[in-house]
Amino acid sequence: MNPFNHDIAAPETPLVNVNFNGKWIQVPKGANVVEVTREQDEFLPHYCYHPKLSISGNCRMCLFEMGTPKMDAKRQPVMGADGKPEIAWIPKPQIGCATQVTEGMGIRTNSPLAEECRKGVMEFLLINHPLDCPICDQAGECKLQEYSSEYGTNTSRFVEEKVKKPKLFDLGRNIMLDDERCILCTRCIRFAKEVMDDDVLGIVNRGSHNTVTCHPNKRFDNNYSLNTVDICPVGALTSKDFRFKMRVWFLKETNSICTSCGTGCNVTVGSREGVVYRLTPRENEEVNSLWMCDAGRLNIHYLHDEKRFSRPLARVSGDLFESGWDDVLGQASRRLKAFSGGQIAVVASARMTNEELFLAKLWIDELKVSLYDVVPRAGKADGFLRSADLNPNSSGARLLGVSKEGKDLPAIRDAVKSGAIKALIVLHEDAAEIGLTPEDLKKLDLIVFVGLIPNATTQAAHFILPAAGFAEKRGSMINVNGRLQRLNPAHQPPGEALEDWEILRDLRSQTTGGNGIGSVEDVFHAMAGQISVLSGLCLGRIGDMGVPLDLEAKAPKRESSPAGVAAS
Ligand code: SF4
Ligand code: SF4
Ligand code: FES
Repeated sequence: MNPFNHDIAAPETPLVNVNFNGKWIQVPKGANVVEVTREQDEFLPHYCYHPKLSISGNCRMCLFEMGTPKMDAKRQPVMGADGKPEIAWIPKPQIGCATQVTEGMGIRTNSPLAEECRKGVMEFLLINHPLDCPICDQAGECKLQEYSSEYGTNTSRFVEEKVKKPKLFDLGRNIMLDDERCILCTRCIRFAKEVMDDDVLGIVNRGSHNTVTCHPNKRFDNNYSLNTVDICPVGALTSKDFRFKMRVWFLKETNSICTSCGTGCNVTVGSREGVVYRLTPRENEEVNSLWMCDAGRLNIHYLHDEKRFSRPLARVSGDLFESGWDDVLGQASRRLKAFSGGQIAVVASARMTNEELFLAKLWIDELKVSLYDVVPRAGKADGFLRSADLNPNSSGARLLGVSKEGKDLPAIRDAVKSGAIKALIVLHEDAAEIGLTPEDLKKLDLIVFVGLIPNATTQAAHFILPAAGFAEKRGSMINVNGRLQRLNPAHQPPGEALEDWEILRDLRSQTTGGNGIGSVEDVFHAMAGQISVLSGLCLGRIGDMGVPLDLEAKAPKRESSPAGVAAS
């Protein structure tokens, strides 16, 4: 994904013998000392080093003591009493991030010299750095805070005036820079240049007056800018969206995936008490490495839209009234049963999970509906992560037979306009997107809407069934590259909203029969029994990293209703 994968040694890399803190170990030749230390379950503190960026070696926090094999007059290694080469230690410390291991090298990361060096570097770093920790957004995730509590002192020997750098510098659409806190590690500059190919950041001025800024007349506005907030080791770069909203140690972290495009970047959902505060990328080298786009990251606020449906609604004499689930499901099902399959159309969504799409398709087949499809959502791929497919689960919708690639949508629109379709089921979509006007919708005898937010369809819908958002449910999706990945719930859906599989199960059982589903795992189990490419899998086996599917090799088989979900 980028050329600076310092953390991954090529499989054919030969091993070398290295004396690490007094113990001889074997490590891949050329590995840098920060990574070797990490592999030994120890830690070499560092700021500027980042495994996916080039080495800059400017923070000096990763100093360690280094040695080379002692040589005799014949340039042969001098062997010690233990039969191992003796090491000649260099009196001057080296930086671990820019030092690659070689045969016979000695590494001391915990010697008195190394410890002393860290304390010295911390003292220099704290000369001009404000101690903002009580009000800084990075508190809890700040390497300066962590290292200063380990290697810093509680007094300062500095008697001059501190250099005060600019505060609240508006760096870009999504980013605020607090220059005072910046330790000039250049991670943000290297990210912009090396990962994004957007060479817009740099350092200006000299000595203690160095500051990070944008090149003249430019702004840091690319769609991946918020990744620099993640990698900034201190609180200098903050997200305008997240800053001062929540202390990070209050956030519950849930592993999930972004659902804002077909890439399905792996994310950590940071939530508290039913509110999602942020999405941050979670490392998966098969999908998004360590990054995600700003658009996906910020697409969380609709979950907390104040207009979001949280109770089932039924339309009576033109107005929507809140009602109980039993009542609304019963009424909707009763009215739906009055129509033949030819009079019903289903507009589904490739934003739905596989489990939801699977149940929807079972129901569609049992209702004998022939006009159904998902709404395609085409954007523009950016050549990095963002996919041209803005639906997160088009592959799943195709695999499960709900998608006809949008080909049925004009027919559905025409059939509604002509009056041939009398009942429309809209799942997480808006009928306006397929060209149906409010007047067209008014012609329908029945509209059942399952979703989150009001739209043109809900203006006319007879029943509104409030569903769960992506951070409120468990299920799976298949990304554009055929990787099956899992969504996990960070919290419950709001109010009385239900997960879609529950809504679809209940609608199905009340209209066409069929039940036996007690959990979303049951749905997956049934689906895996029907779709050969999923056989042998379950939600648990998908794990947090997903599994690749061979969608080309194995066509789905769909013969009969699966065991446990059969029509009864
Ligand atoms: S803003 Fe953060 S990432 Fe950028 S140079 Fe300063 S400390 Fe490093
Ligand atoms: S690239 Fe797509 S999946 Fe990844 S964060 Fe952006 S919108 Fe979400
Ligand atoms: S991490 Fe090595 S010098 Fe900064």
